[in-house]
Amino acid sequence: MDTNVRPESMQRITTKELADAFIAEQVEAVRAQVGDKKVLLALSGGVDSSVVAALLIKAIGKQLVCVHVNHGLMRKDESEQVIKIFGEGLDANLIYVDATDRFLGLLEGVSDPEQKRKIIGGEFIKVFDEESAKLEGISFLAQGTIYPDILESDGVKAHHNVGGLPEDMDMQLVEPVKLLYKDEVRVVGEALGLPHNMVYRQPFPGPGLGVRCLGAITRDRLHALREADAILREEFDNCGLAEKVWQYFVAVPDMTAVGVIDGKRLDGWCAVIRAVNTVDAMTATIEEIPYDVLHKITARITSEVKGISRVLMDITPKPVGTIEFE
Ligand code: XMP
Repeated sequence: MDTNVRPESMQRITTKELADAFIAEQVEAVRAQVGDKKVLLALSGGVDSSVVAALLIKAIGKQLVCVHVNHGLMRKDESEQVIKIFGEGLDANLIYVDATDRFLGLLEGVSDPEQKRKIIGGEFIKVFDEESAKLEGISFLAQGTIYPDILESDGVKAHHNVGGLPEDMDMQLVEPVKLLYKDEVRVVGEALGLPHNMVYRQPFPGPGLGVRCLGAITRDRLHALREADAILREEFDNCGLAEKVWQYFVAVPDMTAVGVIDGKRLDGWCAVIRAVNTVDAMTATIEEIPYDVLHKITARITSEVKGISRVLMDITPKPVGTIEFE
């Protein structure tokens, strides 16, 4: 059988019982494939790599080596959550690399969006390569490939895929969720005991906040973006929109608008809110956010985030706007 083709007969995993059976089956399969060898995994903290990590920890424990590269473009507390859940909670063999200075150094002064993506993608591979070269006896590379990645390997995601790993890595692949759809991966993740907010989190692009800190990234504007985005996410959680909206975030353009804060003029940045619904990211509609929620978010961002003087809302559907800003 071509293992890249999901058999029609395969049952969809919709319940905890079916997920438990899938997990038991994969634990056996991984143990049989790997034996006593070591497996390497790039753990971003996204749904797919997190579920693969939890599954492999269950199957082979410390034979799995997870590498989490913090490129400095993560959302607030994201890397901390990876360390807490996997390093502390699941006692994973976790290598944490804070490569913030490397990435932000290379990105300094670069404003072209594709160039930014290339730098982030290329540097990610370099950092991961360097870390794996320090390790001994790694025979396998685990990946959070899911079924739509195989189906759409020529599509949008492949084009965007900057979290990709070098093709010339001389290792056999371990891809335990490659025949699953995203909703099935989530059911399996919950059955493995991962937190609901990690398993059901919204999509987040590989280049992270790098494509939301528009134009040439500066540390201060990136910091303001991260704080404003955290407020948006917190308020969406509080009012139930987080469960309803497919993707929502703040972008901060490289422009200022005047404001008056504490009686003084401030040339501050604008935080732009975007909240969209879609099924496949090819087209998207705008979620209507109640005005009281918008007022609260605006009040919090302008009072809590240094350097931001205005909050705007983008109501452009896709097409004609893309989901991200650049
Ligand atoms: P656009 O902006 O093209 O986005 O409408 C469609 C979906 O893709 C995500 N996206 C990316 N994902 N690397 C990624 O891994 C990227 O460079 C990238 N650019 C956009 C975007 O967040 C949305 O979900």
